[in-house]
Amino acid sequence: MDAQGRVAAVVAGLALIGCQTASQLARAGAGADVLELRRVYQLPPAEWPAPEVDDGVAFVELGRVEPLPDSDDPRRAAQVELGKALFFDARLSGPGQMACASCHEAELGWGDGRSTSFGHGFQPLARNAPSILNVAFGASFFWDGRAATLEDQALAVFESEDEMHASVEHVVATVKSSRGYRARFEAAFGVGEPTIDGVLTAIAAFERTVVSDGSSAFDQFLAGDVDALGDAAVRGLHLFRTKARCVNCHHGPLLTDGGFHDLGLSYYGRKLEDLGRYRVTGDPADVGRFKTPTLRNVARTAPYMHNGLFQLEGVINMYSAGMATLRRRPDQVGDPLFPTKSPLLKELDLDAAEKEDLLAFLESLSERRRRVRPPELPPLGDA
Ligand code: HEC
Ligand code: HEC
Repeated sequence: MDAQGRVAAVVAGLALIGCQTASQLARAGAGADVLELRRVYQLPPAEWPAPEVDDGVAFVELGRVEPLPDSDDPRRAAQVELGKALFFDARLSGPGQMACASCHEAELGWGDGRSTSFGHGFQPLARNAPSILNVAFGASFFWDGRAATLEDQALAVFESEDEMHASVEHVVATVKSSRGYRARFEAAFGVGEPTIDGVLTAIAAFERTVVSDGSSAFDQFLAGDVDALGDAAVRGLHLFRTKARCVNCHHGPLLTDGGFHDLGLSYYGRKLEDLGRYRVTGDPADVGRFKTPTLRNVARTAPYMHNGLFQLEGVINMYSAGMATLRRRPDQVGDPLFPTKSPLLKELDLDAAEKEDLLAFLESLSERRRRVRPPELPPLGDA
């Protein structure tokens, strides 16, 4: 079929499924391909074109993030409120100057906008602060997955010499010294005596409220607003699922498989070396593997990767080139820990227009900006 025939067929198809709006017809001039893509991507995701994934990939289709079921704990709201105060309370850190919110700021997509965070004593940390958006759905936490629960994750930050530089004793004593906090513990747990478990439970309860809200253009599109995505984003969605192979690892409603992969960014044997998942499992196969991050709201959380060394355009360029392959130096021949890049990465040879389309799709995942007013914190030392 020639191009004109294809346009006619596509337009006929559109008329058939009853969505022949003026704006869609206007786009026909931009090319038959995007019109056809719009037609198929307006169908329910189960009817979208097959994704290009390798054998063994447990693909889950992209989709909207379903809200968590409402908690049946009548105290949940009080726990969330307490947890929010604790999340913003710098007095819990050893020197009293750093809160969770210092590095996870709502207005910066719940990250901190830096390559790597400044930790205790303004020392740069080794890794980029990930967003806490949708951690409610996570199966493991940190870039190397070393914490199994949000509660363990928060405890690790409090106790880290390089981060909040506090101790369980300091955190509990600080909260105990406050009449206001004691009252909030009473409301949240039925006991006024603060404990570290209560602190961690409350912080995690607050974090679990920070979930995607369906406001992104992509979500609107999935909900039936066909104009929510521009042509570039529609082409980008298709590339993301097919030629660009992104869905091999970034799939499901959160655009992550929750797994760990080596993208060749471990800087093995060099100054910025980070062995990633290996530090948790001790398995040589895990050297250089990092957790696949969610891509929801991704355009709001620059810079990128565990080391925060890249911008979005750079990330796309690197994927297009199949990512860098580390070469063994003579002294590394026979080194059993030498990392192997994921075989799921292939040279994609995307042209400039395709890269822009992918970028447009990633940008369509941006959510409504959130301004979270820091809560009023109760005075300390009055209990
Ligand atoms: C000094 C900056 C800083 C502070 C303060 C901080 N974080 Fe983080 N956070 C980070 C960095 C950096 C990472 C990633 C570290 C890693 O992977 O090794 C991280 C990771 C996380 C993660 C894991 C996200 C994921 O997708 O795996 C969560 C959840 C989190 N922080 C919550 C908190 C909470 C709760 C607090 C307060 C108790 C806190 N953070 C305090 C910088 C900070
Ligand atoms: C082999 C699995 C895999 C494939 C395929 C893959 N990714 Fe990733 N992606 C990851 C992992 C793992 C990371 C984190 C790596 C790190 O920090 O070292 C990541 C990180 C990212 C980031 C940075 C996010 C952040 O918050 O820092 C973006 C953006 C991204 N990927 C987009 C894409 C796009 C677009 C494609 C397709 C062109 C793609 N990915 C293909 C596994 C994959």
